[in-house]
Amino acid sequence: MVETHPERFGQEFWTFFTAHIGSHLPPRPVMIDLGCGPGLLLRDLGGRHPGATLYGYDVTPAMVAYGRQLSYGAAKATLALHDVATQPLPHAPGSVDLVSMSSVLHVFDEPLPALAEIRRSLAPGGIFLLHDWIRQPLPTYLAWRRDVLKEGEAESRRRGFRLFPVHNKYTTEDWRWLLAEAGFAIRDETQLRASHQIFVTTPAR
Ligand SMILES: C[S@@+](CC[C@H](N)C(=O)[O-])C[C@H]1O[C@@H](n2cnc3c(N)ncnc32)[C@H](O)[C@@H]1O
Repeated sequence: MVETHPERFGQEFWTFFTAHIGSHLPPRPVMIDLGCGPGLLLRDLGGRHPGATLYGYDVTPAMVAYGRQLSYGAAKATLALHDVATQPLPHAPGSVDLVSMSSVLHVFDEPLPALAEIRRSLAPGGIFLLHDWIRQPLPTYLAWRRDVLKEGEAESRRRGFRLFPVHNKYTTEDWRWLLAEAGFAIRDETQLRASHQIFVTTPAR
C-alpha cells in the first residue's frame, strides 16, 4: 500500500481532485478518510489544504500506528482505530466537508449502514469521494496483476484467483446504483486506472 501510493495517487488523481473537489472546499475543511490505511492520502490532503482538520479511521492497528508517525504539516490530524462497517462515525451530523473512502467499501458485507453514516456526517454541500475496485474480466485481472503489480506467473494466479471475487465484486453500474440507493447524487466520475472508478458525490436532496 505504501509502495503503490504514489502510482495510485499520482498527478492525474490530483489534477482531477483539485478541479472537482479541492476547489469546492472551504478554507478550513474537515476531512475524513475511512479505511485510511497508512495515512498517506491524509498526509497529501494536509499538504494541499494546510487549514484542514483531518481524521483517519482504520480497523488495523499497524495502519493507524504508521499513520500517527507521519507529518501532516500545518493541518491537524487525528488517526484512530475504528470499525467503519459496524460503528457510527464519531462526528456530529452535518459537520464534515469531505469524506473519502479508497479501496475499502468493497470489503464490507453490507455497505448501506456505512453509507448512511457518511451521509449523516456531511455538511450541506459536503462531498463523499468513493474510489474503489470495479469488475474486470478474469483474464484481464490476472494480466493486470502480472503487468501492473509485476507478480510472477505463479504468484499472480495464486493471489489472483483468491482475490478475484473480492476485487471484482461491483461493476461501475453497481456502484452507481448503490450510491443512489444510499441517497447520494453523483456529481462527477472518472476512471484513471482500469481497475478503479472514482465517484464524486453529494447527498441528494
Ligand atoms: C486496501 S486498503 C486501502 C487503504 C487506503 N485507503 C489506500 O487507498 O491506500 C483497505 C484498508 O481498509 C481497512 N479496513 C477494512 N475494513 C475496515 C473497517 N471495517 N473499518 C475500518 N477500516 C477498514 C483495512 O485495514 C485497510 O487499511
